[in-house]
Amino acid sequence: MLRLTVNGRVHEVDAAPGATLLDVLRNDLALSGPKYGCGLGECGACTVLVDGVAARACVIPAGGVVDREVTTLEGLGSRDAPHPVQQAFVDEQAAQCGYCLNGMIMTTAALLARRPRPSDREVREALSHNLCRCGTHVEILRAVRRAARLMTPPSDAQR
Ligand code: FES
Ligand code: FES
Repeated sequence: MLRLTVNGRVHEVDAAPGATLLDVLRNDLALSGPKYGCGLGECGACTVLVDGVAARACVIPAGGVVDREVTTLEGLGSRDAPHPVQQAFVDEQAAQCGYCLNGMIMTTAALLARRPRPSDREVREALSHNLCRCGTHVEILRAVRRAARLMTPPSDAQR
């Protein structure tokens, strides 16, 4: 039995041997925000935050996050109270199929938490290992810029 803290709640999970964090989130906790893409740590579709840092849930053993804080897309915000990054992606309609969006949003949230006003280059670097097969990159970059503005108080933005 594993005790995992996910989105601020403690869960006791009877995880299968060898289960990844992504398996547990999706199959045991019914959190479908993180997606299964490559299963190899390469596409970013499964990204979650572990202690606030973007991490690939498909290659993390479920037992590796005991005593850590895991946040999924569901824990970032809700339909009624979206996180500014979620709101910005909606406002910019930065999706086609949407499969990559979980990873794009979680990676952006982690970036803006540590770097509230990143340069375009820093944004591109941060998202360079999140793959979007639909080619929505232009809208995604616009959404990240919008999110940074939403999260930066006007007085800071004028500096
Ligand atoms: S599914 Fe985890 S990185 Fe692709
Ligand atoms: S919107 Fe389809 S993979 Fe990015």
